[in-house]
Amino acid sequence: METLISKDLSLAWTLLTKGEIIAVPTETVYGLAADFRNPKAVKEIYRVKNRPEYDPLILHCSSIEMIKENLVIEFPEIAIKLADAFWPGPLTMILPKRKTVLDIVTSGLNTVGVRIPAHALLQNLISELNFPLAAPSANPFGYISPTSPQHVKAQLNGKIPMILDGGNCKVGLESTIVEIKGDSLKILRSGAISIEDLQKFDVNISFNSVSSSRPSAPGMLESHYSPKKSLYFIDDPLVKSFEGTKAGIICFSTYSEVFPSENQILLSPEGKLDIAARNLYSALREMDESNFEVIITERFPNHGIGHAINDRLNRAVTRK
Ligand code: TXA
Ligand code: MG
Repeated sequence: METLISKDLSLAWTLLTKGEIIAVPTETVYGLAADFRNPKAVKEIYRVKNRPEYDPLILHCSSIEMIKENLVIEFPEIAIKLADAFWPGPLTMILPKRKTVLDIVTSGLNTVGVRIPAHALLQNLISELNFPLAAPSANPFGYISPTSPQHVKAQLNGKIPMILDGGNCKVGLESTIVEIKGDSLKILRSGAISIEDLQKFDVNISFNSVSSSRPSAPGMLESHYSPKKSLYFIDDPLVKSFEGTKAGIICFSTYSEVFPSENQILLSPEGKLDIAARNLYSALREMDESNFEVIITERFPNHGIGHAINDRLNRAVTRK
């Protein structure tokens, strides 16, 4: 089976309704989607991704009504405020789940991750389906998330019938995940909705620390989002020993003087962090597929979405 890249919404509708899994575009990264009520389809997601079943899926909806009717037992005041400010958009909220949500979707947790993505094609699809889509990022477990249909096809060709073509993802990094408990927010994964954005609300904010087994968000696994080649920060003492090694360098806005410029990718020559975030994963993939022996990356300014870029790089770098 050759995986079809297509904009055909009615084909996507038919496949999902029949219990098949397909890749769908979102503004963050491509997702691998299934009817959340269909245990066989959901299991197939784990199988195709080679993902451990302890890692729960996010549910994608087209309206708050859909979330309330199908997924959560409460939608507290703070969730309403965050939804007003950031949905549709790259924010996932973890809320107490309805008993009817399958355990295979939430890995047996009593909470569920929900978001309304900001991608017109996907929104149309979900409202036509009239049920939530369970979808993790459409990459093999642990590898870099896909931000284009071609990225999905490079890894999953032949394993799924279709990739719904929504072009390149505008954000380029996975959603910010917040767990809501009373009037407190715990940030489980950073993203385009930044800490600074969340601090504008009258809430207590805490962070989850990194975990290496059965974490509450395995996007928080210490090692994740990794290329196959070794990746190092440019300030790693080991980098000095790479003299004579063919290294590919990922920079923010200006070339490093230490390496030949033809071996470097600038993520945003204009120095914009949101553009750097959009280009990060395709640059990592390009380097991974090139004939460079190792990949080296700069660190990014640690504010706004720069915090999320650094977070992903920290999880992707090679540990000794
Ligand atoms: O931007 C995104 O969030 C993308 C697009 C496709 O929406 N999805 C995505 O899904 O990144 P995934 O599965 O690759 O990452 C979702 C993370 C996982 O680390 C999972 O452990 C965590 O969300 N998660 C899901 N449900 C959870 C829950 N009930 N409690 C804690 N963490 C949860
Ligand atoms: Mg993922």
